[in-house]
Amino acid sequence: MSAETYLITGATGKTGSRVVRLLAERGYAVREASRSTATPFSWTDQTTWPAALAGVTAVYIVLPNLGTAETIEQVRAFAQRAAAAGVTRAVMVSVPASGGMDVDVVAQTERQITDAAISLTVLRLRWFNQNFSEDFLLGAATTGELRLPAGDGREAFVDADDIAEVAVAALTDPAHAGHSYELTGPRLLSFTEIADELSTAQGRTVSYVPLSVDEFVAEQVGDGVPAEWAQMLGELYAHIGSGALATTSDDIMRVLGKPATDFTDYARTTAATGVWRA
Ligand SMILES: NC(=O)c1ccc[n+]([C@@H]2O[C@H](COP(=O)([O-])OP(=O)(O)OC[C@H]3O[C@@H](n4cnc5c(N)ncnc54)[C@H](OP(=O)(O)O)[C@@H]3O)[C@@H](O)[C@H]2O)c1
Repeated sequence: MSAETYLITGATGKTGSRVVRLLAERGYAVREASRSTATPFSWTDQTTWPAALAGVTAVYIVLPNLGTAETIEQVRAFAQRAAAAGVTRAVMVSVPASGGMDVDVVAQTERQITDAAISLTVLRLRWFNQNFSEDFLLGAATTGELRLPAGDGREAFVDADDIAEVAVAALTDPAHAGHSYELTGPRLLSFTEIADELSTAQGRTVSYVPLSVDEFVAEQVGDGVPAEWAQMLGELYAHIGSGALATTSDDIMRVLGKPATDFTDYARTTAATGVWRA
């Protein structure tokens, strides 16, 4: 067994929590890092970094504000500190070139890690299935109405369990260094099809009500969502609506040797947990 210690940022989040669990199950030494973990870690507080990085050789990087200039600077400083502390490998959660974020800002962020002589594996992720059960779509999936501005656009929703398995492979096997993986689900789904899947899994009707971005933002703000966040989400849905994400990749199959999890299986197992019972 490896004597390495893995630092997992975003350790309380959708992917990080799964990466922590998988590494621990396989006997690896793991340090969980977020603002609420036993070793507190904040991207905006450099005084928290030395304790988090002590003795660490590989890092899983989750950036809550990826796509901002501020994040480039945070990652530059962090990568330099990490390299000085002995980190040689990193796996970073990122977005596809067609993901709707500023491609140059994302590329510059990733480059800060390799510029610090840390070998990098980039995971370019699509929308997660778990957005419907652990994040901002939980409410809609529970009330039974997906009121969103995504038109008829289709996306290859990917499962956080698959992402975590790929992340663990990349963290523990240096053969993945220098690779960039497009992690998608096995098929494209529109929100109408998602609603049908959720209806079947829950045994009750879940419907999709397409809105304009303006209608969506107004509803969200009326529900107490900050306007900036509502606008950003509205644009992300509209990006799906544009068809920009209507492609699939077989990188999960190539890395894990098994097919990506289908939304039908995700919806069935998630419904059984009771998380969608109002
Ligand atoms: N959701 C999607 O469909 C999707 C699709 C493509 C890409 N992504 C990318 O995936 C990443 C998010 O990954 P995720 O979904 O696994 O995480 P997540 O569930 O959104 O959780 C965010 C994690 O980051 C921590 N965190 C938040 N602010 C922090 C700060 N200032 N300093 C340190 N830690 C902080 C949170 O813990 P504390 O609150 O305890 O600090 C939590 O552990 C983002 O970069 C996003 O762009 C998401």
